[in-house]
Amino acid sequence: MLGDGFLHRYFLNNGGKRLHKWFHYFDIYERHSNASETERQRFLEIGVSGGGSLQMWKAYFGHGARVIGIDIDPICTAHDEVGIEIFTASQDDPALINQIIDRYDAFYIIIDDGSHIMRHVMKSFELLYDKVDPHGVYLVEDLHTAYWDEYEGGLKRAGTFMEFVKDKLDEINAAHARGAIPVSTFTRSTACIAVYDSVVVFEKRPQGTRQTSITTGMGYAEQE
Ligand SMILES: C[S@@+](CC[C@H](N)C(=O)[O-])C[C@H]1O[C@@H](n2cnc3c(N)ncnc32)[C@H](O)[C@@H]1O
Repeated sequence: MLGDGFLHRYFLNNGGKRLHKWFHYFDIYERHSNASETERQRFLEIGVSGGGSLQMWKAYFGHGARVIGIDIDPICTAHDEVGIEIFTASQDDPALINQIIDRYDAFYIIIDDGSHIMRHVMKSFELLYDKVDPHGVYLVEDLHTAYWDEYEGGLKRAGTFMEFVKDKLDEINAAHARGAIPVSTFTRSTACIAVYDSVVVFEKRPQGTRQTSITTGMGYAEQE
C-alpha cells in the first residue's frame, strides 16, 4: 500500500539488484506519491545504475505501471524487464526526450537521479517538466551537489538548480506580484514546491480560481 512505509521496508529487505538511496528520501517519496492507481501508471527515473531503484518502483506502483529509466551508460539496458524499459542517452538530449514522449506521452512522477551536474539537471527540467501529468510530481534528488564546484554548484552561484528553485518560489505566486513577474505556464500548473535536505519536489496541479471566505456567527460571505 502507498504511504505505509513500503519503500523503507523494501530498501532494508532488498535482496535484489543494487539500490543506492539516502534513507531520508523514502519518507519524501511516500509523501508525494499518493496518487490514484490510474494516475501513477507512468514513472520515469533518470539514472539507472544497478537497476535496483527501478525494480523498487515497479513493486511500489504495481504491475500495471510502466517504469522508464534513462542512463548514459549502455550497460544499464541489461536492467530492461517486463514493466521496465531503459533508454540510453544523456539526460540533456532533446532527441531522447522526444523519443520517450512519443512513446509515453506524460509521466505521473519523474525523478532526476542522474549526473547531478547543474547544466544537466536544469536541461532535464526544461525538457521534461511540461511532460509531467497535470497532477503529477517532478522530484530532483542529491541537490547537495548544487553547492559543490565539481557539479557546477556553489552557494548563490548563478545557474545552480537551487538558485533556479528560489526564482520558481516567486513564480508560483506570480498572480499576486502586480505584474512584476509574468504569470507563466509554470505558475498556472504548479501547486507546490517542497524543499528538503538535498531534494526538491514540484507538485503539479492547475492553479484555480482564488477565493477567500469570511465566516462569522452572522453567516457566510464569499469574497473574490
Ligand atoms: C546515482 S546513480 C543512479 C542510482 C539509481 N537511481 C539508484 O537509486 O540506485 C547515477 C546514474 O546516472 C548516470 N548518468 C551519469 N551522467 C548521466 C547523464 N548525463 N545522463 C543520464 N544518466 C547519467 C550514471 O551512469 C549512473 O548510472
